[in-house]
Amino acid sequence: MKWNSSLAIGIEVIDNQHKQIFEHLLALENSVAKRDPWHILRFLLSQLAEYMKFHLAVEEAMLEIVRYPDHADHRQAHARIMEQIAELEEKLQKTGSGTNLVAFFEDWFIRHVLTEDREYAAYIKEEFPALFARVKA
Ligand SMILES: [Fe+2]
Ligand SMILES: [Fe+2]
Repeated sequence: MKWNSSLAIGIEVIDNQHKQIFEHLLALENSVAKRDPWHILRFLLSQLAEYMKFHLAVEEAMLEIVRYPDHADHRQAHARIMEQIAELEEKLQKTGSGTNLVAFFEDWFIRHVLTEDREYAAYIKEEFPALFARVKA
């Protein structure tokens, strides 16, 4: 699926990164649906994993800077996301098909954005409102 504003957490730089992740997921979903060969799926998975690693590192650095109280738990949730990607890779390699596997991961990631990411956003909004200020043209 495509990112939409119902997934916004209000911090522009993070919302843009989440959009990118959904683009990677969509590319993977389409590729699985077309039954592309494994080397293509593997390439798309590695791109997703690379971008995800970057995004999670940015979030973790930000949460450390703002001294987010649930920082450790959030880090753990991120570690689980990377484990899920590794599992997705393993399952796709075994089955060679499975659009539902990608959809399952996507649902899982959406839940993280809508719960845990929204929670830190609420904290930052309260404690560091300047981070929410948008530059309006
Ligand atoms: Fe996130
Ligand atoms: Fe997160």
